[in-house]
Amino acid sequence: MPKKIVIGITGSIAAFKAIQLISDLTKTDYELEVIMTKSACQFVTPLSIQSLTKKKVYVDVFDDDIGHITHIDIVKDASLFMVVPASANTIAKLANGIADNMLTASFLAATCPKLIAPAMNVNMYQNRATQRNINQLKKDGVLFVEPDTGLLACGVVGKGKLADFATIRLMMDYALSEHPLLGKKVLVSAGPTQESLDPVRFISNHSTGKMGYAIARAAFLLGAQVKIISGPVNITLPLVEIEHITTANEMYDALVNLAPFYDYIIMSAAVGDYRAEHIAENKIKKSDDTLTITFNKNRDILQALGENKKDNQVICGFAMETENLLENAKKKLINKNADMIVANSLTEQGAGFGTDTNIVTFITRDGHESLKKSSKEELGFKILMKLKEIEEEKCY
Ligand code: CTP
Repeated sequence: MPKKIVIGITGSIAAFKAIQLISDLTKTDYELEVIMTKSACQFVTPLSIQSLTKKKVYVDVFDDDIGHITHIDIVKDASLFMVVPASANTIAKLANGIADNMLTASFLAATCPKLIAPAMNVNMYQNRATQRNINQLKKDGVLFVEPDTGLLACGVVGKGKLADFATIRLMMDYALSEHPLLGKKVLVSAGPTQESLDPVRFISNHSTGKMGYAIARAAFLLGAQVKIISGPVNITLPLVEIEHITTANEMYDALVNLAPFYDYIIMSAAVGDYRAEHIAENKIKKSDDTLTITFNKNRDILQALGENKKDNQVICGFAMETENLLENAKKKLINKNADMIVANSLTEQGAGFGTDTNIVTFITRDGHESLKKSSKEELGFKILMKLKEIEEEKCY
């Protein structure tokens, strides 16, 4: 059965953006029901929305089909009720349990998770009354996607722009997820490190950060407080704290300082093993036929984290191998005092750098478990749930 999402649209100029959001959501498996306030109909028409959802859009609370009480029936089996965009007026009504139109009456009748994405003029948003109403709704368990700061429709620059779709979609996924990691703190390293050779060149590796960012996303959706220490990558993740570093030494400092404050640490970064002994002050000129550069070994971050591991802290490393996968990964587990190594073979199709999938084996103190090829997204959840299992065993 597809999950049902009820979307409420209110009278904000950002109402036109709801059309794009709904259009995107019609391409997913969700069942959509849309409710609009009368003011929302001044900005976009129910017909535009209906053309996308192929369903009636509800505006009038008394517009029931015979035998139905629509504002009750529409939310009965809903998995999520989201108001996008939410005006100051509707937020005020929802905070006070007012049910004077189809949207507010349905919201009051809904028992599913609720999510609000405000969009309004900066002064209206910052007004104490609005902030008081938002805080009240948060206390009541309603989730919010904060508006962005930017040029608003009224011509003023300030906070009040509807959050971007990536953020709304992530928060939507959060609202639809279970949160078994609520209260846990998860630290993830991701991407490559870069070591300069001279002012224009560096040595690095092919890591794109996809696996690490997928783990961080999964940890966020599972309810954890997450931080990423990231090497240079071309991806980002809204709503998650990201600290950017470049070299292995910078990654070492960031992780070793933060580690004591985290429950799970996942070293998915491809840390460079060596750095140039000297970084040339000027561009290395092309002269001889060969070039020799002396490299010094970088410190092993996972090993340092393993040596200082706190009781009940769970540390997970990765091992990318081209031969003797299990044997080499097991050695890493023991030598680095990790609780789990996620081992993947670079020689298998659909595994490794840059791909959207991975084929891995979990290596723990108790043995190993080979997983089928899965998306990095899905694997992120599996890794975290396995770490939770390890943590629970430790606590006994
Ligand atoms: N790692 C680390 N610090 C390093 C090198 C690696 O923390 N300086 C971590 C990686 O993030 C990964 C694990 O150690 O979680 C294994 O990394 P990998 O590159 O597979 O192994 P190495 O220990 O570097 O050994 P080798 O390159 O010889 O296989």
